[in-house]
Amino acid sequence: MSKNQFPEDFLWGGATAANQIEGAYKEGNKGLNVADVLPGGKERYNFLFNPGFDFEIHPDSYYYPNHEAIDFYHRYKEDIALFAEMGFKAFRMSIAWTRIFPNGDEVEPNEEGLAFYDRIFDELHKYGIEPVVTISHYEMPLHLVKEYGGWRNRQVITFFERYAKTVLTRYKDKVKYWMTFNEINSGLVMPINGLGFAIQNEEDQYQPTFQAYHHQFVASAIAVKACHEIIPNSQIGCMILFAPVYSFDSNPQNVMYSLQEEQLFNYFCGDVQVRGEYPAFIKRYFKEHDIKLDIQDGDLALLKEGVVDYVGFSYYMSRTEKKVKSDEESSEGNVIGGVRNPFLEASDWGWEIDPEGLRISLNKLYDRYQKPLFVVENGLGAYDKVEEDGSIHDDYRIDYLREHIKAMGEAIEDGVELMGYTSWGCIDMVSMSTGEFSKRYGYIYVDKHDDGSGTLERKKKKSFFWYKDVIATNGEKL
Ligand code: BG6
Repeated sequence: MSKNQFPEDFLWGGATAANQIEGAYKEGNKGLNVADVLPGGKERYNFLFNPGFDFEIHPDSYYYPNHEAIDFYHRYKEDIALFAEMGFKAFRMSIAWTRIFPNGDEVEPNEEGLAFYDRIFDELHKYGIEPVVTISHYEMPLHLVKEYGGWRNRQVITFFERYAKTVLTRYKDKVKYWMTFNEINSGLVMPINGLGFAIQNEEDQYQPTFQAYHHQFVASAIAVKACHEIIPNSQIGCMILFAPVYSFDSNPQNVMYSLQEEQLFNYFCGDVQVRGEYPAFIKRYFKEHDIKLDIQDGDLALLKEGVVDYVGFSYYMSRTEKKVKSDEESSEGNVIGGVRNPFLEASDWGWEIDPEGLRISLNKLYDRYQKPLFVVENGLGAYDKVEEDGSIHDDYRIDYLREHIKAMGEAIEDGVELMGYTSWGCIDMVSMSTGEFSKRYGYIYVDKHDDGSGTLERKKKKSFFWYKDVIATNGEKL
């Protein structure tokens, strides 16, 4: 591998989301959001992927891990100092919409919430760390879900516009890198998080889901335009959950099926946000599923005017597809479906480990969009063991990250323009899909457990020192 694959200004860092780290779920006038009503453990997984979720808190039946999370709200100084010690150039985080507009439909923002993020950004800048901010990361105000039906309701565009313009204006001198909606395409498989409603029957997957998407696309375009107007030197991206789809074999039926799955899941949202128009392939899908979007005057022009500057995406695994598959073949644990790939090992949660898939993803995305790319999530969720002397030897995590960083280096040599890498869960936190603390991604261990016990003490893992060297050598020492 040749040296200096990574550009000098490459944004090395780590990624988080407000609801998974902050805790303090009722402090500072914060309102409840979707993550606050998701319990921990297997129940969460069931709620996310099966019909019938009620968006209520049942304190006698479940534990709600996001309520305290890892208490970043009070411990951010210590945590940011640790990120700085690793040499982070960038820190990806999200703003909790409900800290700024507790219910989502207020006219005036909550000053306490705004002041909190001022403190965070100031602390990051103290160490020369660039904030990379997701405006909405699975944190929709619960009130908007219950009273308005989430993104199915067009009025939500106005509420989001107010929220986005408020934070863009407030932080215009502190934040240069933005993203609108986290993993926007994930609403196709788990709308609770991204679209703010639960599927009740099969029909909900079609008309209501795609109408909600249309509203979200318009809202995203409004935020992009506002960002360019308010912060002229800023860059604002989309954020896609990208898992390249492989055909299980060379049977053309399977190849075509894999292509269609890739178009719908991987490209549909990006095509609208990057190219500013609905892709050709979706028209047939709409026709076959009797989807008739309510598109109002000016919407399509807005989509064109609000195209993003870069393509942010998460990469954890690839997906292998077959047109007809049995339950036994299914890729267990993989939230996006598919069949097991005989060439790949999987994590303890069944996510198939495929570094070459990252190089493939980078090439596919760059070929399609010719816009700078940013890997804003990637990492290994694993069980960690604290030794008697307090050390944590997470070599499996180092191996995973090393191979993925090598793959990025190869993609850069392939000609891909890559802005940065913020690995997921730079500090242990609540898992989004399972609500567990034991599914750990961090370079920093947090003493917090699935039953809610733990001192919240932070410890440096072996990967902490490894990543510090990676950053110091700009990816040369792996
Ligand atoms: C992404 C999300 O899907 O994956 C994060 O943007 C999430 O919020 C991450 O935490 C890892 O998933 P999980 O379920 O292991 O936490």
